[in-house]
Amino acid sequence: MNIIENGKMNFEALKKATEKPELYEISTHKFWDDPHIAKQMLRAHLNPEIDAASKTRTTIDLETKFIIKSTGMNNNMSVIDLGCGPGLYVDEFARTGANVIGVDLSANSIEYAKRNIQIGNKKVSFCEMNYLDMDYEDVFDVATLIYYDFCALNIQDQSRLLHKVHKALKQGGQFVLDVFTEYQQSDMSQSVDFENGGFWSNQPYWICKSAFMFSEPKVECFQYAIIDETGTMKLIRVFHRLFSLNEIQDLLAKHGFKVEKVFNNLKGQPLESDSNTYGIVASKI
Ligand SMILES: C[S@@+](CC[C@H](N)C(=O)[O-])C[C@H]1O[C@@H](n2cnc3c(N)ncnc32)[C@H](O)[C@@H]1O
Repeated sequence: MNIIENGKMNFEALKKATEKPELYEISTHKFWDDPHIAKQMLRAHLNPEIDAASKTRTTIDLETKFIIKSTGMNNNMSVIDLGCGPGLYVDEFARTGANVIGVDLSANSIEYAKRNIQIGNKKVSFCEMNYLDMDYEDVFDVATLIYYDFCALNIQDQSRLLHKVHKALKQGGQFVLDVFTEYQQSDMSQSVDFENGGFWSNQPYWICKSAFMFSEPKVECFQYAIIDETGTMKLIRVFHRLFSLNEIQDLLAKHGFKVEKVFNNLKGQPLESDSNTYGIVASKI
């Protein structure tokens, strides 16, 4: 999309930079596989101090400890980490002796994981793959999907993924995930900025960041309108479904999972009535 047409400003196109999109209106550009953004993303994953792309190192340590304990992960088990990023969770899971595979769309993250995690005699492997297209049957004892990624899928893809995970797990296999809840309160704001090269591009750009809320179903949307000096505008949208406890339990049940335990998060902290995240351990029935 270009906001300059025949030397004139296209105000209709420009309006899109600030307007609320339709629910699940797709982005004009993909961002996981843009080479510049992929590099920035990997840097964010590997920064132990910040909660962006991956959680902080302290949180990852607490979450992996909890997931290993609550699933009884051991050297007789096969584990798949969906959307594994650079493999920070896979690395910890592999220390149990389990056979662990990490899958992710991002070539850059998978390349990093192969170089840095898949070393020594750990039983780990990494695969660049869209988890919505995976085709495993009766293979895994545990599947994990961490950092609220389930909430970022649209309704059809949530169903598709649950179907694929169910098929990939052995009978009684466990699915561990975290989701945002209906109590999540993001700041519904709009701001504009100029960056002389930054996260979204190494070239100068103007950016409008907006947050919008939808109800029924409750979904928050973060929109980034990025305009470069040629007038090209990219609209990147990230939607997060915010679940009530009943909604996520019903959705999992509809796809053949029994929710075994719900926590405040994947550190295993006890559930509070107004928690803004849930850590869920479900099993295939
Ligand atoms: C927020 S990051 C979390 C990474 C990792 N779980 C962690 O917590 O360190 C989400 C990851 O999911 C991956 N991803 C998103 N959609 C995917 C899909 N359909 N198939 C495979 N990977 C996907 C992204 O490339 C990214 O690495």
